[in-house]
Amino acid sequence: FNQNILLYLSAYLLSGIPFGYLLAKQFAGVDIKHAGSGNIGATNVLRVVKEKDPALAKKLGAATLFLDAIKGMVVLFAAMMLDAPESTLWTIAVLAVVGHCFSAFLAFEGGKGVATGFGVLLVMMPIPSLIAIGVWLGASKGLKISSLSSLIGLAALLVASYIIYPEVPGIGSHSPIWIIAMIIFYKHIPNIIRLINKEEGKVV
Ligand code: G3P
Repeated sequence: FNQNILLYLSAYLLSGIPFGYLLAKQFAGVDIKHAGSGNIGATNVLRVVKEKDPALAKKLGAATLFLDAIKGMVVLFAAMMLDAPESTLWTIAVLAVVGHCFSAFLAFEGGKGVATGFGVLLVMMPIPSLIAIGVWLGASKGLKISSLSSLIGLAALLVASYIIYPEVPGIGSHSPIWIIAMIIFYKHIPNIIRLINKEEGKVV
């Protein structure tokens, strides 16, 4: 089996593990796919579990954020140890986001890619990602609307990546960043519609 194919499959499959759904089901007995926004991400874990147990919600939300972010990063680290070229690393990064958002374990449905996307981008482009994460956290604190903060963080990431890397090291083009951004944007369309209609919840 070709090494790259193994890395690509691992990235796609590992990132398909819906940690938020599994943790909320296991430790709070709730099905977050059918509660709150219906999303499997950390925000919805926090939102839904909070109604039952606010302290548990914080723990499970943080665990979901961490696990969803780390699952793409571990495959990147494995590939780096195998001296994989930048083009392979970027393909892994994109496939991790695809795996989370179109999961093999959820009939190709899945999350919105924010934690997994920022996780892999943090490895690939630490400085632009740290700036974007800072903007994202600031927006979350100020606005208290998760989806809008994610989208603002995403915009910050695109701008920062162009300023800091006019040419992306090793591959030149910004296309993998755009693919990740477009997937995250696409998955937020229901949120954007709610934001326009002023119906998006303020919760977290
Ligand atoms: O990271 C997902 C977040 O941006 C929106 O989640 O549950 O409010 O749709 P949710």
